[in-house]
Amino acid sequence: MRILSGIQPSGKLHIGNYLGMIRPMVRAQEEGELFCFIANMHSLTSIFDGKQMHQHITDALIDLLALGIDPDKAILWVQSDVPEVAELTWYLNCVTPVGLLQRCHSYKDKVARSIPASNGLFSYPVLMAADILMYSSNIVPVGQDQKQHVEVTRDIAIKFNETYGDILTLPEARIKEELAVIPGTDGQKMSKSYGNTIDIFAPEKQLRKTVMSIVTDSTPVEAPKDPDRNAVYLLYRLFAADEQALDLAKRFRAGGLGYGDAKKELFALLLEHFRDCRAKRERIAADPSYVDAIRKKGADKARAVGLPLLDKVRNAVGVR
Ligand code: ADP
Ligand code: TRP
Repeated sequence: MRILSGIQPSGKLHIGNYLGMIRPMVRAQEEGELFCFIANMHSLTSIFDGKQMHQHITDALIDLLALGIDPDKAILWVQSDVPEVAELTWYLNCVTPVGLLQRCHSYKDKVARSIPASNGLFSYPVLMAADILMYSSNIVPVGQDQKQHVEVTRDIAIKFNETYGDILTLPEARIKEELAVIPGTDGQKMSKSYGNTIDIFAPEKQLRKTVMSIVTDSTPVEAPKDPDRNAVYLLYRLFAADEQALDLAKRFRAGGLGYGDAKKELFALLLEHFRDCRAKRERIAADPSYVDAIRKKGADKARAVGLPLLDKVRNAVGVR
């Protein structure tokens, strides 16, 4: 079974990215062949500063390595290092109905957030389909917001196969219900674009400040509280062991536990959870030649898998 997912290098990673897609990928390494890439060509739809883009790519590589993507088990690469994916995108573009793309929420949401309505942004899902189809992926672990893009990928693959024969593998999104929408500090979906993120590698002081800023209601300390209705508990539960989470839930329900104290417990838990990753990140960042070597090796491996499929497509559409 082949499992593939990508992440845009568009800034700092937050715990929504981690729980929604990075941790599932790290776990998937034990389960099947993992293909994990940095979707920098997608990021060109929203980042227009070359220097910044360059830095984000390196940062994203370091982040993924620090969080447990193992380059000996998985294929980890930078999307644009296998530029043939853009060629596949074109073949797919030519069978993709415009109406399919016009229905995509993500395009409309991004334009509403003032990301320029470029042709690249509009056809973003076709490049994503090429990413998935070029490596004949079976499973695509993503957060809820990417579900529609995986459905579009299936529709494009079906259209292509109907036109040219059974060449492309239909993928399935894998979305864990409880991880679909991780709440941010304001209780809404955690997202870079909403300024409500808890960043994994933020300095300790800043991490503490962010956790303490999680918005809660004004129930007094003594009053019982419903754990399932506050973001502090919802986040705590996702990192804690079962009995630890049950214990916090019990204390919330009993009354006498203030949100401030619960936030301190959450902060301690996060620090503990990411302690090794934070140290590992520093070590990796201090060794740029290691990161370069991983990048090169990943691209070679990804290309070796992707090119045979692309060749089949070239033959089928008749350009070869
Ligand atoms: P952002 O919304 O911060 O820009 P991205 O769109 O770059 O995040 O998302 C990268 C990956 O992380 C995607 O697979 C996405 O579904 C997942 N993800 C992002 N935010 C969350 C969240 N709050 N809950 C669950 N998964 C998320
Ligand atoms: N669009 C995805 C996001 O914003 C990133 C991505 C690009 C991706 N290509 C992919 C995810 C292929 C899964 C599979 O998060």
